[in-house]
Amino acid sequence: NAIYFAGLSGAVPKLPVDAATLEARAIEAMPPSVRDYVQGGCGDEWTQRANVEAFGRWGMVPRMMVDTNERDLSVELFGHRYPTPLLMSPIGVTGICTADGHGDLHAARAAATTGVPMCVSTLGNDPLEAVSAELGDTPGFFQLYTPRDEELVASLVSRAEAAGYRAIVVTLDTWVTGWRPRDLNTGNFPQLRGAVLQNYFTDPVFRRLLGKPPEEHPQEAIMLWVRLFGRVLTWDDLPWLRSLTRLPIVLKGICHPDDARRAVDAGADAIFCSNHGGRQANGGIAAIDMLPAVVEAAGDTPVLFDSGVRSGTDVVKALALGARIVGIGRPFAYGLALDGADGAAHVLRCILAEADLLMAVNGYPTIADVRAAGATRG
Ligand code: FNR
Repeated sequence: NAIYFAGLSGAVPKLPVDAATLEARAIEAMPPSVRDYVQGGCGDEWTQRANVEAFGRWGMVPRMMVDTNERDLSVELFGHRYPTPLLMSPIGVTGICTADGHGDLHAARAAATTGVPMCVSTLGNDPLEAVSAELGDTPGFFQLYTPRDEELVASLVSRAEAAGYRAIVVTLDTWVTGWRPRDLNTGNFPQLRGAVLQNYFTDPVFRRLLGKPPEEHPQEAIMLWVRLFGRVLTWDDLPWLRSLTRLPIVLKGICHPDDARRAVDAGADAIFCSNHGGRQANGGIAAIDMLPAVVEAAGDTPVLFDSGVRSGTDVVKALALGARIVGIGRPFAYGLALDGADGAAHVLRCILAEADLLMAVNGYPTIADVRAAGATRG
């Protein structure tokens, strides 16, 4: 409403309020290698497009004569009540999006000002401890890519626990990098050349394995990171991961209901239904189309969701289909690229405002009402 009323006096918001216009603006502002890395996906990007387009086939039916003057968008997860149902999904090397190279700190500031929790990537350009300090009272989650060295895995997890993160989000679909033609055509991850992956570079086990200070040997440090990257996880690894932490474990990348069932049986604390925004495997069904089956298979275990969410309407649809919390990926990276922490916060606020207005108009005062109303495939 602030933007509507400002419009009465002719004021135009600094950044566009919709994802498509904002993306177009960010794409113009980004150097080509950054644009390709952030905007690009796997193969001909069919799944990536499908993720977004599939939301258009789900619809909701409004209810009238309901008092929605007050709305409650808060949700509970792992014993904590979050003021909004949004999450900043993990995005690696966000430093390439901001001029100062500290994308994670900017994202954390956006989380601190909006109350939207941030999931910090293992591939952070800022150390997870520094990110946690910027988060203030807003909770953070730590996303884990498991390196091949078990001691290094344990070290990353224990640092995240010590820094106050509320959950370990284990990404299952990225032990190798998918076939991404845009990056391959331009020389495979040019943006990683000389990158400073501070979660690794500051890690005592990583430093010991490198045998020299990564600050002085960044290229060798990156090569060691490449050699260590990508332990394939199987169900047999879950007890080992469990033994590393008391924090809740979230399994990210699950789209098949049988995998959801297996995750629940194996003791996962939550399931993250996601296809990595179509960056890892092409040809997959849109993630939102898999969500209802995953939610049903998960039973009482919470299901987080991301992939293709571009608006508050998409958020409400995902909640209606049973997601507990809905993750935003690329849109907040575009916000970072345009205006750092303020740009990311703007994106989150716009998505939230649209979700809130939709709930008001549609007669859904709470998330429980959204869930009860459901969404239908038309
Ligand atoms: C990602 N994603 C991701 N996921 C993860 O678990 N660890 C990571 O380090 C990254 N890195 C990353 C970088 C970039 C540039 C993007 C765009 C995405 C995937 C991310 O968490 C999320 O699943 C998708 O971005 C969701 O899809 P949308 O919202 O981008 O369509």
